[in-house]
Amino acid sequence: MLAASATPTSELKLTRSSLAGIAPAPDQPVPAQAYELPPLDNWDAIIGAIQQCSACELSQNCTQKVPGVGDREADLLIIGEGPGQDEDIRGEPFVGRSGQLLDRMLAAIGIAREQVYITNIVKCRPPNNRDPKSEEAQQCRVYLDAQIKQIAPKVILAVGRVSAQTLLDSNLPVGKLIQQIHQLPGTEIPVKVTYHPAYLLRSPAAKAIAWQDLKLLHRMLQ
Ligand code: URA
Repeated sequence: MLAASATPTSELKLTRSSLAGIAPAPDQPVPAQAYELPPLDNWDAIIGAIQQCSACELSQNCTQKVPGVGDREADLLIIGEGPGQDEDIRGEPFVGRSGQLLDRMLAAIGIAREQVYITNIVKCRPPNNRDPKSEEAQQCRVYLDAQIKQIAPKVILAVGRVSAQTLLDSNLPVGKLIQQIHQLPGTEIPVKVTYHPAYLLRSPAAKAIAWQDLKLLHRMLQ
């Protein structure tokens, strides 16, 4: 059964004005965007805006932006938390050890990496692989929302705690969030949560639960 969306709205908001009222904490000034965002209603605009973004400090420290990769008409959209060191160097999400495990997880249910679209909550690497701050996730949300609107996926797979909590606007632990299918607030898109591959690499015992997640994901995509 789908969990009801907490705050239904008629459609995704795609302008930075949707962030009005989500002010950064006074002691954490966020660098101003150097330019007005164009309408993010096509892929060139979305990728171009990500490449030029200077809305938060992450943009000043990363090697390059990591907008996303894959089939822009995919049924499955996979959303991780943010680029790590390998992704920062390659400019592509999930290419390090976690990514290789993610590829094997997908292959186990007959899905090739090229058949899905993969992106992250934030498009720039957080320094020292720290979690993205909530204001960084909020600043980057306009791009993710625009990507979701373009792809219009059948299912979103939220990979790991930061992704799941950000997408579902929840503070619940992943262990709770994986127990039901959710709905992306403001849309009818089902969201399946699973453990982050980096966690599975550290805690192989959790792979059994991830396997159940994958089998359910496979059924959701039928
Ligand atoms: N972890 C993520 O969440 N995303 C990546 O792209 C790589 C590792």
